[in-house]
Amino acid sequence: MKNPTDPQHVAIIMDGNGRWARQRGMPRSFGHRAGVESLRRVVRHSANLGISYLTVYAFSTENWKRPRREVSFLIGLLREYFRTTIGELHAMRVRVLVIGDMAPFPADVRELAEKARTQTRLNDGLRLQIALNYGGRADILQAARTLAAQARTGELDPAGIDEACFAGCLHTAGLPDPEVVIRTSGETRLSNFLLWQTAYAELVVAAECWPDFDEASLERVLAEYRQRERRFGSVRRES
Ligand code: FPP
Repeated sequence: MKNPTDPQHVAIIMDGNGRWARQRGMPRSFGHRAGVESLRRVVRHSANLGISYLTVYAFSTENWKRPRREVSFLIGLLREYFRTTIGELHAMRVRVLVIGDMAPFPADVRELAEKARTQTRLNDGLRLQIALNYGGRADILQAARTLAAQARTGELDPAGIDEACFAGCLHTAGLPDPEVVIRTSGETRLSNFLLWQTAYAELVVAAECWPDFDEASLERVLAEYRQRERRFGSVRRES
């Protein structure tokens, strides 16, 4: 049930799959596979709670630096996720899309992502953004390039570039900024996630690794968020 003080847009840095697996004497791939199950659970619960937008960091622009085998495994998981989960998401009326530059991914994975987008585009439930080959800096750069190209042709007056105009060129165009960013596994960095969009987001760090993050964890984070006082650079409101 939706609480009026809950965030509209939740963003998650799903961290700690590798450590979770190692703690169990298992390969990192085991943790990534468990991470997909955790994602399924959290998407379902977010939809049940009435959250409007959920953005998850699944593969960053820096993740290509991982060993080739791990990158291939993650791409395989992504393929499997799209193939096996879109039906369930569609049935839950979830609208799915990818943010990031899909160009380096294999053609079939790009097609699956596009098929997921078109199949679910009219759904009116949770809107799920999966960040793939996404980086906050790359996002800002591509927006700057778009605006520079428009200015060069005279279509745009540089003096008219304001925050709304800039935000409209980011991968998240049309979405409200996330009010809360969750990072699991106790780490306290943003790691190049949604750099523009998180200017005033509340960062909540969950101690558990991503595969252990469940429905109760999400509710605990929302409870913590409700306790935060958001001032947006202003001062506390006197009652
Ligand atoms: C962080 O754990 C996780 C990732 C870089 C990949 C996130 C991927 C998933 C949750 C599953 C794949 C998702 C889809 C949609 C297929 P880590 O590997 O950085 O863990 P560590 O910090 O303990 O090494």
